[in-house]
Amino acid sequence: MVDDATRRSRDFWEGRYLAAEADGTTLWGDAPNGWIAEQVGARLQRPGRALDIGAGEGRNALWLARRGWSVVATDFSAAALQGLRSRSAGLDLETIEADATTWAAAESADLAVICYRQLPADSLAAAIARAGESLRRGGVLLGIWHDREDLARGLGGTMTPAIRTTPDETRAAAEAAGLQVELSGRRDRETAAGTACDCLLIATRP
Ligand SMILES: C[S@@+](CC[C@H](N)C(=O)[O-])C[C@H]1O[C@@H](n2cnc3c(N)ncnc32)[C@H](O)[C@@H]1O
Repeated sequence: MVDDATRRSRDFWEGRYLAAEADGTTLWGDAPNGWIAEQVGARLQRPGRALDIGAGEGRNALWLARRGWSVVATDFSAAALQGLRSRSAGLDLETIEADATTWAAAESADLAVICYRQLPADSLAAAIARAGESLRRGGVLLGIWHDREDLARGLGGTMTPAIRTTPDETRAAAEAAGLQVELSGRRDRETAAGTACDCLLIATRP
């Protein structure tokens, strides 16, 4: 059963991905998120099972699969996943249409990635908890979000404050889910509009 807010959000994303596809383009490009790539390179040299949760067109999922990871990419947008499937031939990459606040992997993953999947606080906490449940013991969650600090910097855009987050909130959600927080902080990122602020989380399942 999908609630109204989730249905509206899914319709919004579905529309954006379909419009991009009609224009022969993608919303997020092909390059993986720099921080995710950096952290995987530094911490997880041996490929294993990875989840990309709220994967969109799968730039991070594709990057992982090309490095030998067995990847499950989830999103609630069918159009986003259709685009990803069309670019993942020959790779060990499965797509699952699912709501990240309720779906958890059946098998334990070595790595779960959440990249800019902005959600209101209660849904974000649920998504972090589901990601934690999907990890094996010792498995790593890498999370990156647009921080609420952007608003103070005049980089609010159209995104409401309610779906931005902070290190305190993501740390609290991870700890409530029984995860061990290794890093909770902020990082600047240069954009055409100015210096944006990302909220970062690295947590492991003890
Ligand atoms: C800003 S995009 C980021 C996509 C991708 N992670 C990336 O970095 O390229 C956010 C994605 O989250 C998905 N999303 C938002 N809420 C979701 C939910 N409750 N369950 C699953 N996917 C969701 C959207 O469809 C969208 O693809």
